[in-house]
Amino acid sequence: MESSARPSSAVGQIVLISGDNTQTNAISRILQDQKLPLLSFSSPEHAIEALASDSANNPRINLVLLDAGPNATRLFPWLREVTEDLLAPLVLLWNSDRVQIPIVVIADSHHVPQAVQALQMGAYDYVLKPFSVDQLLATVRRTLQYRRLQTQNDLFRHHLEQLISARTEMLQHSMRQLENSYDVTLEALGNALDLKDAETEGHSKRVTAYTLALGRAVGLPEPQLRVVGRGAFLHDIGKMAIPDAILRKPAKLTPEERAVMRTHTELGYQMIRKIPYLQEAAEIVYSHQEHFDGSGYPRGLRGEEIHIGARIFAVADTFDAITSNRPYRKANTMEAARKEILRCAGTQFDPSIVDVFVATADSIWLDLREGIMRDGFAFSPFGYTFGNIS
Ligand SMILES: [Fe+2]
Repeated sequence: MESSARPSSAVGQIVLISGDNTQTNAISRILQDQKLPLLSFSSPEHAIEALASDSANNPRINLVLLDAGPNATRLFPWLREVTEDLLAPLVLLWNSDRVQIPIVVIADSHHVPQAVQALQMGAYDYVLKPFSVDQLLATVRRTLQYRRLQTQNDLFRHHLEQLISARTEMLQHSMRQLENSYDVTLEALGNALDLKDAETEGHSKRVTAYTLALGRAVGLPEPQLRVVGRGAFLHDIGKMAIPDAILRKPAKLTPEERAVMRTHTELGYQMIRKIPYLQEAAEIVYSHQEHFDGSGYPRGLRGEEIHIGARIFAVADTFDAITSNRPYRKANTMEAARKEILRCAGTQFDPSIVDVFVATADSIWLDLREGIMRDGFAFSPFGYTFGNIS
């Protein structure tokens, strides 16, 4: 550094870049008399060399006074150099300090248009030569005050952002905890249904695991997966309201009985739709027997009218039905399930979901199935750690 007054870290440095030695001396004296710490340089190049080369240790700069000296044509190139090559990197370096460092241009009184143009180029203020001590000090103090307020404002904003982000994190944590405790309740409800309907023992959990795995493979985002998981798990909850004589009938159902059985989709929907946390999942419960070509029930929805969760569920449900033991038949093979699902692509199932299903390795489905069979009721359908397909 070419010369410096005693630095004071509390105040921060004023940097004087002046191509006029007489001015440098005069300004140094004025500022030193006021105990304002000053670093002075004869050109932006020298300032950059001294300050940017040791930027980690250099003192904080609060103000740059820029005087192009007798060669007024240098003013704009110097201003650009100071802004882009000296100050911009320093502002970036001081991470917590995103405030621009103000530049005050010192210009001859017959160069007012240049001084005004310097303001348009980003300078904060100008002082016209010749100036009085009071004029210079008033401008310097006003600029330092501006810089102080900007810095305080930035700090305040920064703290506020940190506070908001900490509170948001706390709130999200509480929401997750609340959702998890709801899920535990749902799990108990689903388990109760599995116990009541012997035919479907373990079915709710398996079909939820398959639906979630398929949903991930299809590319559903995590919040949507949570909805789809709840819908899949509760899909047959309406069967709670179906008389045992029909639900547990060991023989084939009569047409009348089948009609009663079919009401379970709407019954399930009505049971959970008023619970705000399950509103969208209720839509999946309502639609889980719809077919892609409109031949399903209860509303005969078709294509994308059917909730994506219900379309994914339909494939998972058939896959589970074919590969599970039922009282009246033994479980069939993976291969048979694949064939049947492919056969029904475009009629019962959304073909794009069938594509994803058949592209998924058998081992994924087998591992899921094994995990659920092994852990039984200890297996949580809402533990989102299982079933990752990558
Ligand atoms: Fe069902």
